[in-house]
Amino acid sequence: MAKILAIYGSKYGSTKEIVETLAKELENLKLITPAEFVREDKDYECVLIASGIYAEEIHPEIVNFVDKNERWLKQKKIILLGVCLAGQRGISYLDKLKKKLGSCIIWVGMAKGRLILNRLGEEDFTMMKIFANKVKMPFIDRDFIDPEELLDISSQINTIMKV
Ligand SMILES: Cc1cc2nc3c(=O)[nH]c(=O)nc-3n(C[C@H](O)[C@H](O)[C@H](O)COP(=O)(O)O)c2cc1C
Repeated sequence: MAKILAIYGSKYGSTKEIVETLAKELENLKLITPAEFVREDKDYECVLIASGIYAEEIHPEIVNFVDKNERWLKQKKIILLGVCLAGQRGISYLDKLKKKLGSCIIWVGMAKGRLILNRLGEEDFTMMKIFANKVKMPFIDRDFIDPEELLDISSQINTIMKV
């Protein structure tokens, strides 16, 4: 039986790509979206929950999944990973999830993601434009995915899994 169940919410693919990259370094990991979850997945000893961040919020599918599965999730070792442009500076975007899951969380962190404007839906394009204006960030394509950062994250997770 694999050791880590990784559940991700990714609107535009960078969170998926990031978790796939981590999966290459982490032993025994099964990667799914909330829609692919089956009852047997509750047998994993550790659950990595990864989400892209949109207007400072977690992906709605992840919020729903955690709401519905809070009880058994709280009996597992939980790893929380957020993906956003702000990277580690956006750690507070995970506060609601952290509060909800509490002491079962063994690791929390952020990875820097990617934004390609012409891939965004109309609503997200407008939302992102407002956000960029609010934080005085240039409204341009960004690819901050950093392989070294991902190696560091996977090594931290491997270490914590050995404890
Ligand atoms: C509508 C929208 C809102 C966003 N809001 C934020 C934000 O509040 N803070 C931030 O750092 N990045 C923000 N981003 C950037 C995303 O977090 C980043 O592009 C991430 O890599 C997206 O993950 P995905 O490709 O898996 O969907 C936003 C992106 C979109 C499309």
